[in-house]
Amino acid sequence: MPEPALPERPVSRRRLLGIGTGLGAVAVGGLALSAAWARRPAATGDQLVSEVPLPQAFSVPLPIPAVLAPVASTAEGDRYEMVQTETEAEIIPGHSTRLWTYNGTFPGPTIESRRGRHVTVAHRNELPVPTVVHLHGGRTPAASDGYPTDLVLPDGWTDTASHHHGMADDLAVVTNVEREYGFPLDQRATMLWYHDHRMDFTAPAIWRGLAGIHFVRDDVEDALDLPRGDRELPLMIADRAFDADGQLTYPSLDPTLTGEIGVEEPYTAGVLGDVILVNGAPWPVHEVDTGLYRLRVLNASNARHYELEATTEDGRRLPLVQIGADQGLLAAPVRHERLPIAPAERYDLLIDFSGLPVGANVRLANRLGSGRTADVMQFHVVREGTSTPIPETLADDLPEWDRSEAVAVRDMAFRAGRVNGRHGWVIDGLPFDPNRTDVTTRLGDIEVWRLIADVHHPVHLHLVGFRVLSRGTGGPLPQDAGLKDTIALRPGESAEIITRFDGYKGRYLFHCHTAEHEDMGMMANLEVT
Ligand code: C2O
Ligand code: CU
Ligand code: CU
Repeated sequence: MPEPALPERPVSRRRLLGIGTGLGAVAVGGLALSAAWARRPAATGDQLVSEVPLPQAFSVPLPIPAVLAPVASTAEGDRYEMVQTETEAEIIPGHSTRLWTYNGTFPGPTIESRRGRHVTVAHRNELPVPTVVHLHGGRTPAASDGYPTDLVLPDGWTDTASHHHGMADDLAVVTNVEREYGFPLDQRATMLWYHDHRMDFTAPAIWRGLAGIHFVRDDVEDALDLPRGDRELPLMIADRAFDADGQLTYPSLDPTLTGEIGVEEPYTAGVLGDVILVNGAPWPVHEVDTGLYRLRVLNASNARHYELEATTEDGRRLPLVQIGADQGLLAAPVRHERLPIAPAERYDLLIDFSGLPVGANVRLANRLGSGRTADVMQFHVVREGTSTPIPETLADDLPEWDRSEAVAVRDMAFRAGRVNGRHGWVIDGLPFDPNRTDVTTRLGDIEVWRLIADVHHPVHLHLVGFRVLSRGTGGPLPQDAGLKDTIALRPGESAEIITRFDGYKGRYLFHCHTAEHEDMGMMANLEVT
């Protein structure tokens, strides 16, 4: 197997920090560490260094992923078709990059749907490896939730990949080439995303381009006078790195993504790229007017955390007014000067360009980055617009669960550990095993989960949204407002979340969404009975 040429990388601060060597001891009450550590993105991995000449920041226009048209619609719902296919795209100007895509684009096409209106997506796998599609944040029956062994095999695939690594799984539903996923979407309006979720190889598959956006709309949202049309911008932020030919680099142990799982040793804490893409374009620029804009931000990076800040050329900070979280609108807006965003989190933000002169530039910066990763994108004000006011109240349908209603309180530790003799990641000491049920809960039960982390772990639950009750010995952070499906645990931190397991019975997952951690063991089964 040819090894991918790996560029030189900077000294690993990960190793200097000694991550993975007995950090368990700092897990509880280790909060003194977290402020400093939370500011070190290298704590989530090592950064690849691109070899291709990179474009100037803010020279490439921001692409907006096309909205997919249904192939059929009835009174109850819409049917879509997607082909998973290898393609080439110009990401770095003058170079063409091979990608794995949904329908030939990265990000994949956007699906627009309404609460309660059933969506069927028929996927066809024309990639060289098995795939699985998961709708992240979707309240989806288990059969369509994209369980990691529910593989869609490529045409002529003979290798039973689900039986690799001694991880045979009797419950898996494996299909040839095609599969239909059904989404009732009986859930609050929000921005979901779909991405590959194949056992052991989710991280490199997303890296190669298998990710797209899925909006759910509803009447609650419509009743608010929020910016829409071209004043509402989906922003999928993801870091990548490129070799001298403009191809994506990624330190897979097996670049065919069929054999050995995981990444080379220096990257086991997570793979970081040195190029920041928004909707697939490097450090793009977008023309705006002097109105109010709605930014639907998704961190689709495998491991990189960002801290977003919007600044004008004269150094003024424009507030990022949060109106929604992973699982929909907040009760009332929360203003952020700087907003941290972990992998898989979404934030629904308003930004007001009124008062800026035509010609002004607003930079969306990443305060956790350095050098070129300190930039994300830029807004260029090109004309006058009319600004709409920011609503003072938003949604009144947020679930309020009380600790006293919880029928179970569970502790769960997310830590480094050995997996198959290598560096890996474990939950309560165990690596993922599709044949083991880790948590069994009854449909309708309310539970409190106490999550503890050694390093950064964005912990994600399938099926349900949750509220953050506490962090360490304090309350939730401002960005914890609303209904979440992913919580950014900081190094040494513990946090409590509360949820009700309603919706559907069946086999679901919870896992760390640092994609490399997920592939290297940090995932577990949740059985709703
Ligand atoms: Cu973004 Cu298990 O998912
Ligand atoms: Cu998910
Ligand atoms: Cu993790």
